[in-house]
Amino acid sequence: MAAQFRPRILAMQFLAAIAFISGITRSGASDPPLTLDYYASSCPSVLKIIREEMEREMLLDPRNAALVLRLHFHDCFVQGCDGSVLLDDIFTLRGEKTASPNINSLKGFEIIDRIKSRVEFGCPGIVSCADILTIAARDAVLLVGGPYWDVPLGRKDSRSASYELANTIPTPNEGLIPIIYKFLSLGLSVTDTVALSGAHTIGMARCEYFRARIYGDYELTSGGSPSSEVRLSQLKSTCPAAGGGDNNIAPFDYETPYTFDNSYYHLLLNGEGLLDSDQELYSSLLALQTRKLVEQYALDPAAFFQQFSISMVKMGNLTNPDSFVDGEVRKCCRFVNA
Ligand code: HEM
Repeated sequence: MAAQFRPRILAMQFLAAIAFISGITRSGASDPPLTLDYYASSCPSVLKIIREEMEREMLLDPRNAALVLRLHFHDCFVQGCDGSVLLDDIFTLRGEKTASPNINSLKGFEIIDRIKSRVEFGCPGIVSCADILTIAARDAVLLVGGPYWDVPLGRKDSRSASYELANTIPTPNEGLIPIIYKFLSLGLSVTDTVALSGAHTIGMARCEYFRARIYGDYELTSGGSPSSEVRLSQLKSTCPAAGGGDNNIAPFDYETPYTFDNSYYHLLLNGEGLLDSDQELYSSLLALQTRKLVEQYALDPAAFFQQFSISMVKMGNLTNPDSFVDGEVRKCCRFVNA
């Protein structure tokens, strides 16, 4: 369990560190006009409908919780939580689905379609897709054993998307400081970054994203213990070194892949984080504050749950100011209204 530090100070990390030290301020966040009782009179059944639908989706496949949670993250990181990630490409609009962090990777759109259909049946034209996704992400976490939090509501759906911004969603190999910088630039703190990364306690990643890690410093960070050697050889058989198998999947948390708990942080202490970006929270030379938080959440699951709830509300409150001016409640989450 001894900490292994990784000599990985890339030029980009260094530049980003300078930017960080010189004072990054939030740019994307605004004070959103969101309220807990937004649909209390216009659609009082919305929370119940979404919970029931998510329960059904979880029975179909427990991984669906992870799909919805990630969809919400990728929505909020691009123009705020405005349902932009849900838009399909059409002749007049380039959506975000084909941006490199999303293509062949982001899933769960049909789940939101199914929930939306039922919500539209009960309350036509009232509940935005952005709100549906935000509530569904909360329910996803709750239904796999995670914390509950109240979801502020009243988001509008955007009439635009940003392929360019979607290409800036954090990716596993870009290093700790650039990733922290991206969170900071949206008004999310280092603490939020570490707590939200705990979402990787559920769900799967594709070989394409963890190949460099398992043939790179996995053995160094995990210290070569017998159990981690077994784990490493399983990962290598899932994900061959010489190309091929890019879409083969492995769970982030191989012990409890369908339970939202703090075992993600235990894995990081053991040096067994699946993605480079996961392990860097603990093992990077620059992981000063993040390392302490990883240790704290590994020791204290209640502290993790509490911070995760706070950080999810904060991320969910990243709003798109434009969507309050010319936004709408889409009839179908995949297309802007005619
Ligand atoms: C800190 C920066 C982050 C990076 C670099 C990152 C990267 C990734 C990657 C590469 C995958 C696997 C995709 C694939 O194999 O196709 C993934 C999956 C996932 N991510 Fe993240 N992520 C980050 C933060 C987050 C956050 C903040 C959340 C939610 C709050 C989140 C939730 C998830 C979930 C639940 C999955 C599993 C999805 C599934 O099973 O398909 N991630 N992430």
